[in-house]
Amino acid sequence: MKIELTVNGDQVEADVWEGESLLFALRERLGLPGSKNACEQGECGSCSVLLDGMLVCACLVLAAQSHGHEVVTVEGLGEDGRLHRVQEAFVETGAVQCGFCTPGLVVATVDLLAHTPQPTDDQIREALSGNLCRCTGYAKIFDAVRLAAGS
Ligand code: FES
Ligand code: FES
Repeated sequence: MKIELTVNGDQVEADVWEGESLLFALRERLGLPGSKNACEQGECGSCSVLLDGMLVCACLVLAAQSHGHEVVTVEGLGEDGRLHRVQEAFVETGAVQCGFCTPGLVVATVDLLAHTPQPTDDQIREALSGNLCRCTGYAKIFDAVRLAAGS
């Protein structure tokens, strides 16, 4: 089936299988490998994207459900060739090790700061609780979120 959607501001279309995930369509059909596939079960958050402004796991959304909707992936966060301030904060604080969790954490942090510009540590913990990281121990990820928030 053919779907049409907006991805990172561009109108795109793709031929997808009815049972195919949005994550698969983004990565394998639309050339956007930034959203990572780690569990494909909604457990790790590495595939996090914004669907009509709502944070979702792209592995749990059917590509067909995104027809007519707007998706923002990690590739669409920066502007004018520059990284988004959240991406810069992750780099600056050393919150990136293997990097596999990073796109999802960045998207989740962008979503958090859009709704809560000055989050407390508990709010950060709650907002990022769906994003697993095997490498950092999370301390530097908290530093990155605080830096991006300017606190
Ligand atoms: S790949 Fe989607 S939550 Fe893990
Ligand atoms: S940096 Fe490796 S899983 Fe988070």
